Amino acid sequence: MQQHVASTLKLCIFLFLKQSFCIDPASYEVCAPKPCGNDGRYINFPFFTLGPRGSLCGYPGFEVQCHDNGSLVLPISGKDYLVKDIYYNSSSMRLVTAQNITCPSGLTNLTLDPDRFRLYDESVTGEVVVLMNCSKELPENLSRYRIGSCDPDILLVMLSDDRNLGMGKEHCDHVVVAPVQVDYYAGRQQMEVVDGENYVEVMMKGFMMEWIAPYCMECKESGGRCGSNGYDLQCFCPWGDQIHARSCPTASKPSSFISFRSKLQISSL
Ligand SMILES: *[C@@H]1O[C@H](CO)[C@@H](O)[C@H](O)[C@H]1NC(C)=O
Ligand SMILES: *[C@@H]1O[C@H](CO)[C@@H](O)[C@H](O)[C@H]1NC(C)=O
Ligand SMILES: *[C@@H]1O[C@H](CO)[C@@H](O)[C@H](O)[C@H]1NC(C)=O
Ligand SMILES: *[C@@H]1O[C@H](CO)[C@@H](O)[C@H](O)[C@H]1NC(C)=O
Ligand SMILES: *[C@@H]1O[C@H](CO)[C@@H](O)[C@H](O)[C@H]1NC(C)=O
Ligand SMILES: *[C@@H]1O[C@H](CO)[C@@H](O)[C@H](O)[C@H]1NC(C)=O
Repeated sequence: MQQHVASTLKLCIFLFLKQSFCIDPASYEVCAPKPCGNDGRYINFPFFTLGPRGSLCGYPGFEVQCHDNGSLVLPISGKDYLVKDIYYNSSSMRLVTAQNITCPSGLTNLTLDPDRFRLYDESVTGEVVVLMNCSKELPENLSRYRIGSCDPDILLVMLSDDRNLGMGKEHCDHVVVAPVQVDYYAGRQQMEVVDGENYVEVMMKGFMMEWIAPYCMECKESGGRCGSNGYDLQCFCPWGDQIHARSCPTASKPSSFISFRSKLQISSL
């Protein structure tokens, strides 16, 4: 034990003399990508889970929760959405509402912060319309859209370009819209009719959304990990002594730093 401490100290002094690496790499360590669940999803900048370090490893507005059961949840204007897939290389993800939509009477419109999120364009994203508080006397043409599991309440569901939407609105008071992915089908024209029978399947496929955050790629490619001070991007470097604004300085040191770090870890055991 004594020896380990001594060698750590020596290493540290040596590094001080070289005016470089004897620093606390805590931010870099803390901001390692965090796996969530077994599906290969992980939490990385700009997303973060709230912990003692706050939004250090992420960017404001991108807080997520990783539950013990492996579900990754993004709350948007007070409603939870499950992150099914996340693509850091294209800043996009597939979301599914976390609500039980067997009877979607509690569904609300999705309200996005336009500075943070936007839906994929309409060649990929369609809209399902849920009509609530409908009158008891429905015309025959609307009966297929009725959601049976809401009985005795009368709710209808259809696509926003369904030719019966106008008629539906005449018979119902309350309209809620939810994005759905339409590119599962051959094309927008051939898209199936969404109705009371199949809407759960359609909605559970989720929808694609892009996020807007400072660009981390430059930092990542230079060997760093991104975070923020609450306003600006910060690049945490494994071998640097500073926080950098965009990327880590090009240094030929990373391999020696890694051995330094492993020594440090061994000696602190
Ligand atoms: C996962 O856990 C969260 C929080 O405990 C819960 O709300 C959610 O319904 C769970 N999801 C599944 C699929 O069990
Ligand atoms: C992102 O990565 C996925 C697989 O990891 C790949 O299928 C996709 O084409 C990539 N997208 C871009 C824009 O590079
Ligand atoms: C959703 O709600 C319905 C009826 O309220 C219930 O039968 C079903 O088990 C629920 N599903 C989940 C996944 O909780
Ligand atoms: C639906 O109608 C009931 C009364 O008939 C009313 O109390 C309720 O607020 C209405 N809900 C909506 C969402 O309009
Ligand atoms: C009801 O549907 C039929 C066929 O689906 C259509 O021909 C008819 O015009 C519709 N009625 C109304 C009132 O829209
Ligand atoms: C939901 O959005 C639709 C379309 O944007 C709008 O017509 C409807 O009034 C909204 N519903 C509520 C409850 O705000």
